[in-house]
Amino acid sequence: MKLGIFTDCHYSSAELTCGRRRCNQSLRKIEEAMNHFTDEACELVLCLGDLLDKEKTLEEEAENLKAVSRLLDRYSTPMMCIMGNHDGFSFSKDEFYEILGENRRPKNLEADGKTLLFLDACYYTDGTAYCHERPEWKNSFYPHLKELKELLQKATDEVYVFLHQNLEPQAEINHRVKNGDDVIAILEESGKVKKVFQGHYHRGSNAEHNGIEYVTFPALCEDENRFYIVEI
Ligand SMILES: [Fe+2]
Ligand SMILES: [Fe+2]
Repeated sequence: MKLGIFTDCHYSSAELTCGRRRCNQSLRKIEEAMNHFTDEACELVLCLGDLLDKEKTLEEEAENLKAVSRLLDRYSTPMMCIMGNHDGFSFSKDEFYEILGENRRPKNLEADGKTLLFLDACYYTDGTAYCHERPEWKNSFYPHLKELKELLQKATDEVYVFLHQNLEPQAEINHRVKNGDDVIAILEESGKVKKVFQGHYHRGSNAEHNGIEYVTFPALCEDENRFYIVEI
């Protein structure tokens, strides 16, 4: 299966934030990525979160999300977008996909004997979902451990996991899911998980831990455009 992947677009009207994020270039960069994925006949496009960055008002952010949705509507390749912390601090999960498109809400799938699982770690350690009032990006938690175990029991022998935040022990501590140890214990125990694909840590990284490969893609919004084709 040929996947087109990009992450951390941080699209907004800002020219430059955090010294490196060229937020207002991201719509053009997403278009470049989508054109490339179309030319290369990717079967599925995935965004691994932080699609948007902050504006002065939530209404402006909703307009930005609509602009991304209109752009994606021009392409026939199926596309799904995991929410990142920036998205979760502006929109509830339902609000986000209502604007971006319900068909772009991640759904676990099986194809060619492979299982793709999408995890949402946009929760606080108390188990509640991210909200506008608490932009605590270092407080990331995956609350659905029991469901994950069950999904892995039912899955094919080759599983690929996708999420925004980072799981592996080598990850930069502030970017790591707080119960990452519990999550990876379940992934390892299944014996089925080959790779975990992540965003969030803008510099990107590659790591291996107990037989599972962890690939963190560099952010699309920084420096040159960054998007990737992955064959699984
Ligand atoms: Fe980000
Ligand atoms: Fe993030």
